[in-house]
Amino acid sequence: MTELHLWLRHEPRTTERRTPVVPSDARRLVENGVTLTVEESPQRIFPIEEYEAVGARVAPAGSWVSAPRNTVILGLKELPDEPKELTHRHIFFGHAYKGQPGASDLLRRFGAGGGALLDLEYLVDENGRRLAAFGFWAGYLGAALAVLQHRGRLVAPLTPTSKEELDKTLQPAAGDEEFSALVIGALGRSGRGARVAFSTAGIEPTCWDLPETQNLDRPALLTHDVLVNCVLATTPVPPFLREPDLDDPTRRLRTVSDVTCDVGSPLNVLPVYDRTTEWDDPVRQLSDRPPLDLIAIDNLPSLLPRESSTDFSAALLPQLLEFETGGAWGRCLDLFRTKSRELGIAVGEGELGHV
Ligand SMILES: NC(=O)c1ccc[n+]([C@@H]2O[C@H](COP(=O)([O-])OP(=O)(O)OC[C@H]3O[C@@H](n4cnc5c(N)ncnc54)[C@H](O)[C@@H]3O)[C@@H](O)[C@H]2O)c1
Repeated sequence: MTELHLWLRHEPRTTERRTPVVPSDARRLVENGVTLTVEESPQRIFPIEEYEAVGARVAPAGSWVSAPRNTVILGLKELPDEPKELTHRHIFFGHAYKGQPGASDLLRRFGAGGGALLDLEYLVDENGRRLAAFGFWAGYLGAALAVLQHRGRLVAPLTPTSKEELDKTLQPAAGDEEFSALVIGALGRSGRGARVAFSTAGIEPTCWDLPETQNLDRPALLTHDVLVNCVLATTPVPPFLREPDLDDPTRRLRTVSDVTCDVGSPLNVLPVYDRTTEWDDPVRQLSDRPPLDLIAIDNLPSLLPRESSTDFSAALLPQLLEFETGGAWGRCLDLFRTKSRELGIAVGEGELGHV
């Protein structure tokens, strides 16, 4: 019987309605002997009563700070700024290993408290393949928003919705002009999502992945009306779009949706803009000669909180059930220690179960 005590925390970011564990999977955890505490949260897409009904304990929002030390705290996005010393093991997306703003501060908080970050982005199998990710829904939404913008039907501000409602808006209407679309990174998780959304909208996109961009045919790229970029770049490659392409009078391309959102990174394949767009103002015009609109939203799956949480939770559940023995968590812990030490931060040597 596992002794794992898992604590599902409230997300401080007010627009974040997703959760890494949905009530039906909470039931499976409890049935398998996990002690599960779930914090109340005003915005989580699943009400607290659904967790309580499957045997979870309920705690106030933010009360993880005083949870017993051996509790594993589970969330998705950033922690609040306090406490300064983090004593627990935390599972979430830390964004702390690529020199991001605030990365070293976060690792120092773990170092100071003796806790550990088990970063969901690096929860991988022995071949380095991600075990739980939101990519499919990112691509689905990236393509859906591009379709709506291109058809003149994108309504701002964007608000979280359901797939059913979104799909209704994607149906082609009388008078809609046909257009061509290109998905790059089409074989990945988000690329697959983008293809499914296009299909719902009645569009058959051109699909490119690594082989098709090896000798990039930029003129061919520019003959598409809509581009959805879904690549996961790991080494620098020639950009898909450059500043001069914006002024190219022969360009057909009118709408770009950048799911990847590597803005500011040396790996950015779309270095033609300098900041992401937001739910309040999702589209920015990059050029008016001829027009080119950009959508670059870096929290797309949050727009479909129920569907994206349900898929993510289903992928995470088997890993949580193997928390004490699972090699994937051991790899997360090793990486946390390596990255902390690279910054000169002292970290403990405890086993996964007793950090
Ligand atoms: N905007 C958002 O809200 C959001 C959410 C989740 C993920 N993402 C980002 O989306 C990107 C893709 O994530 P994923 O989960 O789909 O990754 P993935 O690894 O499943 O797929 C990436 C695909 O890109 C392809 N690729 C890599 N380099 C390429 C190149 N130069 N040319 C053509 N194809 C190339 C790969 O072969 C692969 O098929 C990541 O950068 C991820 O951080 C964004």
